[in-house]
Amino acid sequence: MGRVQDKVALITGAASGLGAEDARVLAREGAKVVITDIQDEMGEAVAAEIGENALYLNHDVRSEARWQQVIDKTIARFGKLDILVNNAGLVHFQHVEDLPFEHFKLETDVMLSGAFLGCKYAIPVMTKGGDASIINVASIGAIKGLSGIPAYAAAKGGMIAMTRSIAVHCKEQKYGIRVNSIAPGNTVTPMIDQAMEQVEADAPGLRSSIEAGMGQPADVANLVLFLASEESRRITGTNIVIDNAESIE
Ligand SMILES: NC(=O)c1ccc[n+]([C@@H]2O[C@H](COP(=O)([O-])OP(=O)(O)OC[C@H]3O[C@@H](n4cnc5c(N)ncnc54)[C@H](O)[C@@H]3O)[C@@H](O)[C@H]2O)c1
Repeated sequence: MGRVQDKVALITGAASGLGAEDARVLAREGAKVVITDIQDEMGEAVAAEIGENALYLNHDVRSEARWQQVIDKTIARFGKLDILVNNAGLVHFQHVEDLPFEHFKLETDVMLSGAFLGCKYAIPVMTKGGDASIINVASIGAIKGLSGIPAYAAAKGGMIAMTRSIAVHCKEQKYGIRVNSIAPGNTVTPMIDQAMEQVEADAPGLRSSIEAGMGQPADVANLVLFLASEESRRITGTNIVIDNAESIE
C-alpha cells in the first residue's frame, strides 16, 4: 500500500519543476494524478512517464470557466478528488518602480487568484468526511523581505493568509478537508534557472556554488506527500517552511 493509495490528486503547473515531481511522487505512492499546465507538450510527457494513472489537461489557472471543466474531467476520469496542489506559478525579478502594473496583475492572478479558484471549485466536490487535503505552494518570498519580487511576495503572502481562512472554514463545516501552505526556499527548477542566469551574468562562477546549497524538487515533493497523506491528519491551517533556514539567516 502506498502512502496515498487510491487517492486522486490534481496538481496545477505540473508540467515542470516542483509540480512534475509532486505528480511523480504522489503516483509512486498510489495516487491517481491529474497534471495540469499551459505547457502541453511537457505536461503530456510527465503524464506519459507516469502511465495510466495520470491524465494531462491544458489549464490556465486564471480561467474560472476552465477550472470548472478541469474539475468535471477529473471526476469523469477518476471518480473523485482527494488532493489539490495549487502549484502553478511564475516570478518576475523587477523592483517596484520598474515592475509594470500588468506584470503585478499577472503574478497575483496566476498564484493568488489561481489558488482561490482552485479552492472555490475543488472544495464542493472533494471527498467529504474523510481526509482530503489542499496544499497551496507559497514561498519564503512571502516571509523574508526579498528585494526585487514585490508581486511574487504579495501573491505568496496572500496565499498563506487565504489558506488559514479557508482551513478554518473547512474545519467549521466538518468537511474533512485540511488546507495548508508550504513555503519552499530556493529549489533547483526551471524557475530558478532564470534567476541563476542573471547571477551568472553579474558574477561569473557564483552560480554553481549557490546551486550546490539549493534544495531538490524531491525534497519539496516529500513534504507535499506528507501533507497529502493521512499521516498529517492533525495539520491544517498552517504554513510549513522548507528552506534549510534560508529565511531566518
Ligand atoms: N523553485 C523554487 O525555488 C521555488 C521556491 C519557492 C516556491 N516555488 C513555487 O513553486 C511552484 C512551482 O515552481 P517551479 O520552481 O517548479 O517553477 P517551474 O517554472 O518549473 O513550474 C511552474 C509551472 O507553472 C506553470 N504556469 C505558469 N503560469 C501558469 C498558468 N497561468 N496556468 C497554469 N500553469 C501555469 C508553468 O507553465 C510551469 O510549468 C511555483 O508556485 C513557485 O512560485 C518555487
